[in-house]
Amino acid sequence: MFPKKPPMGFNTWNTFGENISADMIKQTADAMVEKGLVDAGYEYLVIDDCWSKRRRDPETDRIVPDPVKFPNGMKDVSDYVHAKGMKFGMYSCAGVRTCADYPGSFDHEYLDAKTFADYGADFLKYDYCYKPENADGPLLYRKMSMALRSSGRDIMLSACNWGCDDVHKWIRSTGAGMYRSTGDICDNFVSFRDIFLSQLDNFVYSAPGCFNDIDMLTVGMYSQGNVGSTGCTDTEYRLQFSLWCMFAAPLMLGCDVRKINDVTLKLVTNKHLLRINQDEEGRPPFIAKHDGNNQKNIYVRVLSDNQLAIMCTNFTDRDHRAWLPLENIGVPVNVGKGLRLFNVFTGEDEGVCKESLFTQVGAHDCAVYLAEICDA
Ligand code: GLA
Repeated sequence: MFPKKPPMGFNTWNTFGENISADMIKQTADAMVEKGLVDAGYEYLVIDDCWSKRRRDPETDRIVPDPVKFPNGMKDVSDYVHAKGMKFGMYSCAGVRTCADYPGSFDHEYLDAKTFADYGADFLKYDYCYKPENADGPLLYRKMSMALRSSGRDIMLSACNWGCDDVHKWIRSTGAGMYRSTGDICDNFVSFRDIFLSQLDNFVYSAPGCFNDIDMLTVGMYSQGNVGSTGCTDTEYRLQFSLWCMFAAPLMLGCDVRKINDVTLKLVTNKHLLRINQDEEGRPPFIAKHDGNNQKNIYVRVLSDNQLAIMCTNFTDRDHRAWLPLENIGVPVNVGKGLRLFNVFTGEDEGVCKESLFTQVGAHDCAVYLAEICDA
């Protein structure tokens, strides 16, 4: 499975943790269709950790779904998700146990890949807890990638080794379609800011085929659920979602989409932000204006169809007047050219700017534009 664009979907972990069930998954699938999330492109519904019994079946050695959470097994859930027009994701771990202490796939890669194929899985998130000390991490991802390729189903490998072993340098060669590059997100501003900043030098490795996954979104969680912390303001969620879009990160919703509010729904279905995230060329942004400690950087990304995306960030606690001399992006003052700006949040044209772009950016907020070079 070669993802041409950053994968989009929903994952159970951020809100539900171990409190998952067939009913909860089916209700989520229903909600994703009813609220237009599937139409907007959110196609994967991924069950994270805690779906199985604590022990493998002693006779078959297979992982066994928890009979209380999934009384009719996983194929039943998968069929339901597929009938809704979505793809189905499962979870396992490269170590001997998963992070929440359920059976991992170490030394069972081929059997488990076959099991996931039998379930009708299209996606496998593959975690890194309880890896035997002497086992080679990259080889474990190669092994599961090969096992999936031999399973008879097209299943995308979503690696999750949290950035260990300089993962960005070798993960594409394993055949994985995306890879977690950081530790776990919590639902607060500092957490997503630091996760994002930790990858500033690595986004150039993220491209069609294998995308840098900076973790499931906490957008719309408002402190509720498994990784709920202090929560974020709507402004901070808008900053988080815009960063993920700008840097072509996979967009895996982590809030309870059955209860998603209008503000969140509007944000995560903003077609201009999604257009940036899903740009077919998948080029990395560059820092067009650097402020020293990366708190107020301005990023520019070259998109397809002669467009640009511009994002002015403000991680500080005060309003900030952002200033981008167009010279910084290769548009000098003396050539009679400027940028036509379209504000992705308001959906309004903001005319043509010449020489410099100025904009006011609130604390923990951002401004995002689609732009085109034009005569000025
Ligand atoms: C790790 C991963 C998380 C989640 C949990 C499940 O911490 O990084 O995303 O999958 O395991 O236990």
